[in-house]
Amino acid sequence: MDLFAHKIIPVVIIHDTADAEPLAQALIAGGLPIAEVTFRTAAAAESIEIMSEIDGITVGAGTVLTPEQVEIATEAGAQFFVSPGLRPDVVREAQVSGRPILPGAVTPGEIMQAQSMSIETVKFFPANLYGGAAGIKALAAPFTTMKFVPTGGVSPQNLDEYLSLPYVPAVGGSWMVPATLIDDRRFDEITALCRQAAELAAPYRAADDGDAA
Ligand code: 3PG
Repeated sequence: MDLFAHKIIPVVIIHDTADAEPLAQALIAGGLPIAEVTFRTAAAAESIEIMSEIDGITVGAGTVLTPEQVEIATEAGAQFFVSPGLRPDVVREAQVSGRPILPGAVTPGEIMQAQSMSIETVKFFPANLYGGAAGIKALAAPFTTMKFVPTGGVSPQNLDEYLSLPYVPAVGGSWMVPATLIDDRRFDEITALCRQAAELAAPYRAADDGDAA
């Protein structure tokens, strides 16, 4: 599984588990078949379970704050974990599960702590408040092997700024899966937004394919 294959990781908030299946189908139809289902609602674990049953989509857990949530998400079938910050027992639990985790890190100290736990890629959150692309560039100078997944305030307007950086394998964002559209069950609109997002990311996917060739 390549978490970054699509260059964008949609960050989703699901309030009603009945939305999980149509949302997964909307993401697949829009060409962005991956979702970080955030543990911000009571529906998260069951939604992960439902979406994990569907072929053709990679489903992970986001806003993972405790080792217990890693366990719950693992049981639900999450294939990866994302945490807004760096908590060693959360990272360890994820590593025990054998699935990738993107812990949040935005300072040199946090990045060094992440490196000490064999983390090679961190979530840079909230990217817009921690200096955006310029902030990542400054951190990438000393941390030459670290990769950053900016999330928070990423949009079609600034996507290029981030994805053009060689140490940004992907971004996270909710602009193509707004919670209001999910709650209103406007899945066709989500598909259209995903399609647009996937098109914007396509040149960077092609560049990756070129590298691999
Ligand atoms: C996250 O949890 O990663 C963010 O809430 C997503 O940020 P965005 O809503 O600004 O895209």
